[in-house]
Amino acid sequence: MTIIVYFSKTGLTKRYAALLAGILHCRFISLDELGDQNLHDCKNLIFMTRLKAGKIEKLGLFRKIVKKFPGRSILVVTGASPADAPTVSALWKSLPLDIEHVPHFYLQAGLNYEGMDRVERAMMNTLKFTLLLRPGHQEQYDQIANSFDTISEDKLQPIVDLIKEKS
Ligand SMILES: Cc1cc2nc3c(=O)[nH]c(=O)nc-3n(C[C@H](O)[C@H](O)[C@H](O)COP(=O)(O)O)c2cc1C
Repeated sequence: MTIIVYFSKTGLTKRYAALLAGILHCRFISLDELGDQNLHDCKNLIFMTRLKAGKIEKLGLFRKIVKKFPGRSILVVTGASPADAPTVSALWKSLPLDIEHVPHFYLQAGLNYEGMDRVERAMMNTLKFTLLLRPGHQEQYDQIANSFDTISEDKLQPIVDLIKEKS
């Protein structure tokens, strides 16, 4: 059995989780529901979370899950950055030692300003303002100025292939 556990605030990671669950014919639950589950017969646990200010959210919790279910966990991180951005490769290089062996994937999802709370919208506005003030950052500003959505099923293929390989 495979289960997907997701953490999502503006809905994009949840959409990826739903898409992947549809392809793998498995359940997807939010992180809040995780405590109620019996995961002992679970062969693969796909943990989906997101990037915030250059950091993987809920990484501490994921490390605890890996400890509890060694060899069964997979990490999937969504973000606004393109998959080939240097920040993404730097992210994997800075993974803590205890989880660097864990299969990990990055999915560009986009940005959803409508789904953000006031604090997160304020953080994004500060970032936009900083980029506007810095010469040579127009392209970066344009990339995050508005909501956008690059979610697609084909980006999930490497994860689907890994699950097939493992079963
Ligand atoms: C406050 C804030 C900070 C963010 N920081 C980053 C970041 O450092 N790098 C990145 O690629 N995306 C960043 N994003 C974009 C989110 O990671 C992206 O929209 C993600 O898919 C949202 O997931 P969710 O909709 O499931 O909450 C940020 C978004 C917010 C709201």
